[in-house]
Amino acid sequence: ASQTQLEKKKIVITAGPTYEKIDPVRFIGNYSSGKMGFALAEACVQQGAEVTLIAGPVSLKTVHPNIKRVDVESAEEMYQAAMAAFPKADAGILCAAVADYRPDVQAAEKIKRETKGEMTLRLVPNKDIAASLGAIKREGQVLVGFALETNDEAAHAEGKLKRKNLDFIVLNSLRDAGAGFRCDTNKITIIDKEGESVAYPLKSKQGVAVDIVNKLATLLK
Ligand code: PMT
Repeated sequence: ASQTQLEKKKIVITAGPTYEKIDPVRFIGNYSSGKMGFALAEACVQQGAEVTLIAGPVSLKTVHPNIKRVDVESAEEMYQAAMAAFPKADAGILCAAVADYRPDVQAAEKIKRETKGEMTLRLVPNKDIAASLGAIKREGQVLVGFALETNDEAAHAEGKLKRKNLDFIVLNSLRDAGAGFRCDTNKITIIDKEGESVAYPLKSKQGVAVDIVNKLATLLK
């Protein structure tokens, strides 16, 4: 393939986990390392794109001059950054593992241990970034989501594809060895809104990113 499939295209990518603060020392998070999203950012700039990479708390570095990195912590911050960047973009790829809920209050001081008994955390829903971008998507813009599933994978992925108004969704399952969080490999199925489904073999996250970028490029022509 040529190295210019995404020449001058502006792509917004979300990556990594979000942290939802409980108090100054604790949070609710997840196991996302950011590797998949950062591999996508790299694959996009290799094809000539200008990337805005909205990253949750991860320990990865970005060096390419065409990757503009925006570091955020919470789902709300990621939502604000994504809503600001997407209107100027040609495409969005939503690879972040966004917390669906956050504690309803963030304690100003460290919560002390109760000597006896249980404690309850009350959670309230976060905004759905993918669905929010899907709702403001313009003609010609392409929106790509991920689905991380543990059961009834295809049905859940297709539900998210429709609900969030995506053009295609990248399904990865925690039932597949070497897929999902933290590892250097992934195994994906791409399902598009026409209902076409293509399963790929286990590959490095760099290789998976190239497959996703190739699919994206066909829709941005
Ligand atoms: O970071 P790594 O360690 O490399 O791991 C990669 C990964 C497993 C995190 C990645 O491949 C992946 O699957 N990312 C999506 C994880 C996820 O939260 O999936 P979901 O099925 O819960 O969400 C569906 C889609 O909606 C995703 O595109 C997600 O980014 C988006 N979403 C979800 C909730 C929310 N509040 N806002 C969103 O935008």
